[in-house]
Amino acid sequence: LNYLIAKDRKTIVDTLVSGLARLEYRGYDSAGIAIDGETTEEVYIYKQVGKVAALKKYISEQQCDFGKEFVSHCGMAHTRWATHGEPSPTNSHPHRSDPNNEFTVVHNGIITNYKELKTVLENRGYTFESETDTEAVAKLAKYVYDTQTKDNQNLSFTALVKAVIKELEGAFALIFKSVHYPNEIVATRRGSPLLVGVKTEKKLKVDFVDVEFGAEEKVPPPGPVNLLAPPNADAHPKLRRSQSRAFLSEDGLPQPIEFFLASDPSAIIEHTKRVLYLEDDDIGHISDGELHIHRLRRDDGISAVRSIQTLEIELAEIMKGSFDHFMQKEIFEQPESVVNTMRGRVNFETHKVTLGGLKAYLATIRRCRRIVFCACGTSYHSCVATRAIFEELTEIPVSVELASDFLDRKTPIFRDDVCVFVSQSGETADTILALRYSLERGALCLGITNTVGSTISRETHCGVHINAGPEIGVASTKAYTSQFIALVMMAIQLSEDRSSMTQRRNDIIDELHKLSDNIRTVLKLDKELKKLANDVLYKEKSLLIMGRGFQNATCLEGALKIKEVSYMHSEGILAGELKHGPLALIDENMPVILIMTKDSLYPKVQSALQQVTARKGQPIIICNEDDEGISNQYKTIRIPQTVDCLQGLLTIIPLQLLSYHLAVLHGVDVDFPRNLAKSVTVE
Ligand code: G6P
Repeated sequence: LNYLIAKDRKTIVDTLVSGLARLEYRGYDSAGIAIDGETTEEVYIYKQVGKVAALKKYISEQQCDFGKEFVSHCGMAHTRWATHGEPSPTNSHPHRSDPNNEFTVVHNGIITNYKELKTVLENRGYTFESETDTEAVAKLAKYVYDTQTKDNQNLSFTALVKAVIKELEGAFALIFKSVHYPNEIVATRRGSPLLVGVKTEKKLKVDFVDVEFGAEEKVPPPGPVNLLAPPNADAHPKLRRSQSRAFLSEDGLPQPIEFFLASDPSAIIEHTKRVLYLEDDDIGHISDGELHIHRLRRDDGISAVRSIQTLEIELAEIMKGSFDHFMQKEIFEQPESVVNTMRGRVNFETHKVTLGGLKAYLATIRRCRRIVFCACGTSYHSCVATRAIFEELTEIPVSVELASDFLDRKTPIFRDDVCVFVSQSGETADTILALRYSLERGALCLGITNTVGSTISRETHCGVHINAGPEIGVASTKAYTSQFIALVMMAIQLSEDRSSMTQRRNDIIDELHKLSDNIRTVLKLDKELKKLANDVLYKEKSLLIMGRGFQNATCLEGALKIKEVSYMHSEGILAGELKHGPLALIDENMPVILIMTKDSLYPKVQSALQQVTARKGQPIIICNEDDEGISNQYKTIRIPQTVDCLQGLLTIIPLQLLSYHLAVLHGVDVDFPRNLAKSVTVE
């Protein structure tokens, strides 16, 4: 956060802390801020384990002058999700270079070579206080400063940061603040998202920023800083552009301006909707009300202009409304979110689907030799849910991959493969790495994401935004149903040249038309499911969810929801596999949910029911409303019938509601279950 208008310290702290609170939904275990002290020679750092509210309280108890005014000020704040070292104030960000806080750093990502850096720096006399990878970056900044300026030489803040990041391996979005460069902030990224929000009083004359290539090397740092690598021959490229655009108002005059740097727009949306996304190896320098962007290396094929976009997201959309939890709100939003996914894309009269983002690539996709779906968690389940209809409609073989395993196996990928990366956030590290791996091998890469401007939506060749609206609860619900629909729409569009499939397509589109109303009907079961959670399941240790065919994915996703938010053990079991092992678990005490909706596999699920009841199991059955064939002896959850390949959009909803109620009964912090994060930006 950089101000160039008078603000008191309280306003600055409140702005930083409320920005952190907006990011709470991502999951974290500690938080901290760094602000200017009484003089520009001083920086105050405050950190706490736990909720942002705890940090806020802690800061308010400090003996500092909250009324002190700043004409220009740079502050930074961070919520941490532990990857190296337990959650503790010392391990929290901001990290510092030394006890005088000469350099302070916040970081999102992982520095993979931090151990080597730490060893080199310790050998040079720098003492570390935390167990984090990030601290090595702060210490390295001081090392560069100490060595490069010892003969009174000039070193700009951006040149310093360039020297630092040349040494870093891994993924990072980093922000630097220093007492040596008062009122300046430098921000850079590689592999982790970072955006700059721009807030002005007047209209801007320019809505883009030119990138400066090598401008900093006008004053080359004396001697290479490289600690580990040999000096880079390309380290001092000639200046190509000397002038980047400063921000001017339409009347040409400089103006009061505020900059907000964040890894997620929800942190800054209440201040400004005008944002600029930094690219990998961009180094953004903010000082005196101007933003300048430099590149680490020139001529690397990256565009020389960063344009400012206006976000369409509303703050109200990321608020809870009248619901107790975001997860509950998001489950109940599904009648609308599924419509938003289809809006402008499905014509229910002509039975046509048009996904604008794929138009130019349809012929290439149709010619491919296979399609690979790749994702993590719930997004992976949306791929499992739609694989069968995709293969049936397109006759293209589809494989479904967990992104982490896809990379572990170094899966062979070729130029005539099409890879589809599905991710709610568009920022999941495993999925991004799988995407980059596939891009390197020449595959056509598609993204299905819920986050416009996310890394996956930017780095894929083309794709579909699911338009489900912000999803804040860590356990994904509405994104699942929207991803499911996006993949079905894609299959329909790809198969439109296959006339033998016309009837099938029309049936699916007719049922998509009714989907919203059908979801509303299922949501009416909320009270019934709450009672089931309370009376039957809440005290149980385990719950098995069984089904087969199109209901496979519902079993896996339903069990994941229950595990994630209620901490109860749950397993999704493919009913076809029952006799190959899981049957050993069945007795009169083991809770079982069986999904038994009317489709071609109904008789086979009936036989699974018999196998369970023969072992005294008493399953709760999710079945269709009008299914008279199910004996009264079973507890049933009855839902509307739809076409087989869309039935999973309705069977998942009772399980979402059930997991929600189990979580509430267990006293779990529903939106922030322990040990989990909404967006897992580390491998
Ligand atoms: C995390 C979240 C899950 C999510 C998964 C994939 O594990 O807790 O809810 O399904 O990441 O996230 P993505 O944003 O790629 O869909």
